Amino acid sequence: MPLPTLKRSDEDEDHLFRLLRQLDVAPDASQRALAAALDISLGRLNAQLRAATDAGLIKLTDTDSTDKRKRVAYAITTRGASEKNRLTDRFLKRKFAEYDKIHAELTGTTSGFNPLKNRTNFMADTLAPIPELYVSYDSAQKLKMEAADLASHDLTPRQICDLELLMNGGFNPLKGFLSEEDYDGVVENMRLADGQLWPMPITLDVSEKEAETIEVGQDIALRDQEGVILATMTVTDKWTPNKAREAEKVFGADDSAHPAVNYLHNQAGNIYLGGPVTGIQQPVHYDFRARRDTPNELRAYFRKMGWRKVVAFQTRNPLHRAHQELTFRAAKEAQANLLIHPIVGLTKPGDIDHFTRVRCYEAVLDQYPASTTAMSLLNLAMRMAGPREAVWHGLIRKNHGCTHFIVGRDHAGPGNNSQGEDFYGPYDAQDLFREHQEEMGIEMVDFKHMVYVQDRAQYEPADEIEDKENVTVLNISGTELRRRLAEGLEIPEWFSFPSVVEELRKSRPPRAQQGFTVFFTGFSGSGKSTIANALMVKLMEMGGRPVTLLDGDIVRKNLSSELGFSKEHRDLNIRRIGYVASEITKNGGIAICAPIAPYATTRRAVREDIEQFGAFIEVHVATSIEECERRDRKGLYKLAREGKIKEFTGISDPYDVPENAELVIETESVEVDNCAHQVILKLESMGLIKG
Ligand code: PPS
Repeated sequence: MPLPTLKRSDEDEDHLFRLLRQLDVAPDASQRALAAALDISLGRLNAQLRAATDAGLIKLTDTDSTDKRKRVAYAITTRGASEKNRLTDRFLKRKFAEYDKIHAELTGTTSGFNPLKNRTNFMADTLAPIPELYVSYDSAQKLKMEAADLASHDLTPRQICDLELLMNGGFNPLKGFLSEEDYDGVVENMRLADGQLWPMPITLDVSEKEAETIEVGQDIALRDQEGVILATMTVTDKWTPNKAREAEKVFGADDSAHPAVNYLHNQAGNIYLGGPVTGIQQPVHYDFRARRDTPNELRAYFRKMGWRKVVAFQTRNPLHRAHQELTFRAAKEAQANLLIHPIVGLTKPGDIDHFTRVRCYEAVLDQYPASTTAMSLLNLAMRMAGPREAVWHGLIRKNHGCTHFIVGRDHAGPGNNSQGEDFYGPYDAQDLFREHQEEMGIEMVDFKHMVYVQDRAQYEPADEIEDKENVTVLNISGTELRRRLAEGLEIPEWFSFPSVVEELRKSRPPRAQQGFTVFFTGFSGSGKSTIANALMVKLMEMGGRPVTLLDGDIVRKNLSSELGFSKEHRDLNIRRIGYVASEITKNGGIAICAPIAPYATTRRAVREDIEQFGAFIEVHVATSIEECERRDRKGLYKLAREGKIKEFTGISDPYDVPENAELVIETESVEVDNCAHQVILKLESMGLIKG
C-alpha cells in the first residue's frame, strides 16, 4: 500500500517539497525567515503550513528558544520526512524532463538523462552524492523525541546491518524495508514492483505476537539492541510470507543446510512489515571507526583522490598472497584503483571473527601501494546466496562509488547442501552477474582459481597454466589452512604473509590450547549426567584448562528455575546453556553440557554460537527410551505414563535423534568409565587434548 497522499497539482507539490525541505534544513527558523526563504507571503505560508499539518506531514512543537515569538515551531514528522524523499524524486524527474525538452529544442537530440527511473541513475557513473534516508541533525533531534511515544521494534543484529545500509544509501534505490509487492517481485524475478533490479529481499521480520500490536498505517520506532532509536518506519504493509518459496527462489533450495534458509525458518519472525524508513542516526560502532565509510564518504574520497575507476574486492576471509595477486591483476585488467572492501557485519557461521580479520588486513595493507589502494569495512549482513548475492554485492559496490567488482570462483558460496553437494555451480555467480552487469552499471572482473606455480615462484590462474605437466602447482585450501592453524603446523611463506599468520595464530592457538564444548544429549535417565561427571573428573585430572559442568538439573536449579518444559521454555533453557558454554569456550575453558536438548534446530543454533570460538562436540547418549523407562531412576517415567507429568520427552514430547553427532555412545551393557573414555579418545583424535 503506497503512502496516503492528497491529490495535489504539480505546483502544489513543488511548494510542499520546498516547504518540507526548508523545515528539514532549518526547523527552528521564524515564520518570517521561512516565508523569506521560500519567497512567499506570510499569509501564503500560513495556508501551506495548515495544509501540511492537516496531512500529518508537519506538526507544532515547543522549542527551547528564550525568544517568546520562537517558542513554538513547525517540525517535520516521520511521514513528512518520507513524503519529502518521494517529492524530491518527483521534483527532479520533472526538472530533468524540462531540461531534456530545452536540450532537444536547442540541439535536436535528447540530453541522454534518464529521469524516469530515479536520481541515482542520473548520477550513476559520476561520483556525485547518493541519496540517503537521514533527515537533518535538527530534525533528527525532534523526530527522536516524537518517536519515543511510538510503538517500538527492537532490531536484530541482522536488521541493524540492513537498516544501516538502507539509511546510508548502500541499498539504494530502496527507501525502506520492502513492501509486499516489492518483496514478491524480488523473490520471483529479482525486480522491485517498478521493474528495477534488486536480487535480495530486505525485509523487517517480526514475531506473530509483535505483529498483532502493529497496524498498517502506523509509524514505528526502530531501536538498536540498547534501545537507541535509529529510525522510524511508516508501516505500509504487513503480511505472512511464504518462506519455503522464498528459500527456493532466493537461495535455490528449501534446505536448512543453507545458513540463510536456516535463519529464515528458525530465527526470522513469521510476519514481515514493510514501509519507508526515515533515518535518525547511524548505528554506533566502537570498533575500527576510522576504517568504516558510508557510500558518500567513499565517493567523496574517490573524488578527492581523482579516482575515476575503482575495482572493489569483497571478502570475508583474511587476505593471503593469492588474494593479493588476484586483486593486483584485477586492478591492472580494469586499469582502476583498488578498494579492498571486507565484510564486518554478519558472515558465514564459523568464519574467523572480524576483529581478527581486520587486524590481518591491517597487517597486509602495507604490501599494497597506498596511492592506488584503499581499504574500507562494510557492515553488511551476508546471506551466502551465491549468484543472487554476487549481483547484490555489485549493486552495493556501485552505490559505494565503484565501477568494477571482482567475482571469483564460488562467490558467497554457502558450503554443501544436506546431500553433501554444492548449492551452486562454481561459476554461477559470474554468469548471473554478466547477464545483468550492463543494467547494474558496474562491470565484473571475473577471476578463476589462483594457484602457486613453484617453478616460477608466482601465482597464476589455475586454468591458464599451459605447462601444467612440467611444473609444480601448490595450493592450500581453507580447510587445510584451518587444520594447520589448529595443529600448530607450518604455514609456508608462499601461501601467506608472516604478519597475517602471526595474527591468526594469536587468535587461533593450536587446538590443544583452545576452549571447547562437549554437549551431551539424550533422554532423561540415559546416563548423560553420570558420563558427564566422569568426563569432568578425567579432564580435571589432566589439568591445563578450567572445566565447567552444565548438567540439566544443575542448570534448571541455578539458571532456569522459572522455566517449565514447553517447547518455548526448553529452547530458552538450551540457549542459555549454549550462551554460557560459548563464553567458557571463548575464554579458553572446557564446558560440559548435559541437558536433554530434544530439538535439532536448537542444538544447531547452540553449535553455531559456540563454533565461532572453538570446537563443539555433540555426543548422543543413545540409550533407548525403553531402557530409560526400565531404569526409571527418578521415578519420572511412571508419573509421565500416568499423565501426572506432562510433555515428558520420549513419552508425550518429541526427541529429534541427532543426525550429525560427533560421537554416539551406547550405554546398555557398557561401563560409565568406558563411555567417558570414548569421549576422551574422540577429543584426542580431534587434537583437543594431548594423548
Ligand atoms: S531440556 O528439554 O533439555 O530443557 O530438559 P532438561 O533441562 O535437560 O531436563 C532436566 C531434567 O528435568 C526432569 N524433567 C523432565 N524431563 C523431560 N520432560 C519433562 N516433562 C520433565 N519434567 C522434569 C528430568 O529428570 C530431566 O533430567 P535428566 O535425567 O537430567 O535428563
